[in-house]
Amino acid sequence: MLYPLFFKTVFARMDPEVAHERAFAAIRIAARLPVIGELMRRVCWSGESARDRVEVMGVEFPHRFGLAAGFDKNARGIVALTALGFGHVEIGTVTGEPQSGNEQPRLFRLIADRCLINRMGFNNEGAAAVARRLAEVRSTRDGRKAVIGVNIGKTKVVAVEDAIGDYVKSAHLLAPFADYLVVNVSSPNTPGLRDLQSVESLRPLLQAVREASELSAARHVPLLVKIAPDLADDDVLAVARLSNELGLDGIIATNTTIARPDSLRTPAGRVAEIGAGGLSGPILADRSLEVLRLLRGAVSEGTCLISVGGIETGADARRRVFAGADLVQGYSAFVYEGPLWARRVRLGLRGAESRLG
Ligand SMILES: Cc1cc2nc3c(=O)[nH]c(=O)nc-3n(C[C@H](O)[C@H](O)[C@H](O)COP(=O)(O)O)c2cc1C
Repeated sequence: MLYPLFFKTVFARMDPEVAHERAFAAIRIAARLPVIGELMRRVCWSGESARDRVEVMGVEFPHRFGLAAGFDKNARGIVALTALGFGHVEIGTVTGEPQSGNEQPRLFRLIADRCLINRMGFNNEGAAAVARRLAEVRSTRDGRKAVIGVNIGKTKVVAVEDAIGDYVKSAHLLAPFADYLVVNVSSPNTPGLRDLQSVESLRPLLQAVREASELSAARHVPLLVKIAPDLADDDVLAVARLSNELGLDGIIATNTTIARPDSLRTPAGRVAEIGAGGLSGPILADRSLEVLRLLRGAVSEGTCLISVGGIETGADARRRVFAGADLVQGYSAFVYEGPLWARRVRLGLRGAESRLG
């Protein structure tokens, strides 16, 4: 109950990216403090139960709910975010080369809609630096326990025709530390990236990434592809068929949308003023659920589906599990709901477990 007030009086008055940096720094510092850190873990994991555990893609997850890519782009706070109650943390998007991303401002709140628009443009320290950080994380006990997804994308200056080499570089460097690897071809903020979702482009890309990651990690590294909600249904089904053909481990649906639905409460003038970028939050929920259902009807048995887009409550997450999601993720609602959000969703999901039998 305190967080909404704090959000209104403190964060809402700050530039959203500054607020993100400060909140994330506070989370990392708090998790490292002896008493506060322990309290944080106890509160956020209270009621933890072995019944929540699930094995997906051969990986054990403490529960089904995790933090979506984009919050921790450089793997700076995996242990702290796990302490906050997320069952897994997907880091990235990481690109082959470091890059600063788009010009600021590039993150905007649509408070009336509890949505965000971002055009960050994959600002990140690059695969080599992130690999060094992951090596450090995995050298600690808490870091080895954390379930880490690694999401990779294309460096902006690399031409779309040369994308495979750039993804392969990241896969080679990062796969050894990953519980699962995600090929992101769906962010709207890198020109040409989403064209890689076409099956003809995606097939060789996924094959090359899989080969590089397994060679480098010397084990099977579960491989998923993350798709956009803006794909036509036929294209979603084409990705599902490709996944079956390649024996992919899973699909993450969905990324942000470039659409600006009329149902937004934020005045159209304000939305237009913000300009280009990916829209996330509850406005995405219907399409995200629809894409999940399409996929579940089309993928081979055993294919992991991670549902993301507009999840705010335990009930939202439960609906995704009923519709066939193995795991669920969220990002935008973290901003509006605060530090106890992961706990609430985890406990809310528990209903689904018992009703699922
Ligand atoms: C500020 C911001 C940055 C994001 N960056 C990434 C990213 O780097 N890679 C990625 O795959 N998705 C990224 N996403 C998309 C989220 O992972 C997620 O797919 C999307 O926001 C929908 O979920 P939500 O409605 O719970 O936010 C980003 C989202 C936001 C809000």
